[in-house]
Amino acid sequence: MRKKIVAGNWKMNMDLNEGLKFAETLHKHFTENPPAKAEVVICTPYIHLAGAAAVLKKGKVSLGAQNCASEASGAFTGEVSPWMIKSTGAQYVIIGHSERRTYYKEDDRLLNKKTALAINTGLKVIFCCGEVKEERENNTHFVVVRRQLEEGLFTLQPGELDSVVIAYEPVWAIGTGLTASPEQAQEMHKFIRDLIREKYGKESADRMPILYGGSCKPSNAAEIFSKPDVDGGLIGGAALKKEDFVAIVEAAL
Ligand code: 13P
Repeated sequence: MRKKIVAGNWKMNMDLNEGLKFAETLHKHFTENPPAKAEVVICTPYIHLAGAAAVLKKGKVSLGAQNCASEASGAFTGEVSPWMIKSTGAQYVIIGHSERRTYYKEDDRLLNKKTALAINTGLKVIFCCGEVKEERENNTHFVVVRRQLEEGLFTLQPGELDSVVIAYEPVWAIGTGLTASPEQAQEMHKFIRDLIREKYGKESADRMPILYGGSCKPSNAAEIFSKPDVDGGLIGGAALKKEDFVAIVEAAL
């Protein structure tokens, strides 16, 4: 059986003190109540990483960044490379979030470069894909997700793919309160798993964790996570409140 993963994407929230305090709260909670079947990850802003890694050390919560540079080092003012992220103690990095694709114009080619570099640096990549509202309405959502995966991920070698977690995040559901129905999520997750099977074979497809993201909350998580191809969630707003995040982790059991 695939392990479930519930990852919190903090986005650009909480200053350093607030963030470290919250990481400590989650560390304490999940040390006292270890999640039996789900891996818990928090993806913080860059500046929280080193401090959060110290707080979370030897605990039950994994750590990730929300983005990385496409180059390893050098004259790239303001950028943070996968190698630097790894040196903080973080294990994961989110790549291809729709907010990066939309606001920072990150395209499939760039995301492919970032993904390969992050994996070769030893990080695990949470690779996001998903269609916008018009694409869902035009019935091109499968075409869009297929393109994002083919161009962003499918240049990887089979061994490299084992360092990838896919997150399907329909953009129309992110931060909007609209959620994909469990059936819509299952339909797309199955489509994604079928694509991986075609390209990499059954074993790789069966191993791939595919997370759902988009207005996931305690009231809808259990039903979405119960679908056979949904292996947990990538959580935005509800990952900023302990009670909500814990309830979502518990829904993955
Ligand atoms: P919300 O859970 O706030 O809709 O955000 C989802 C998301 O973008 C996680 O990466």
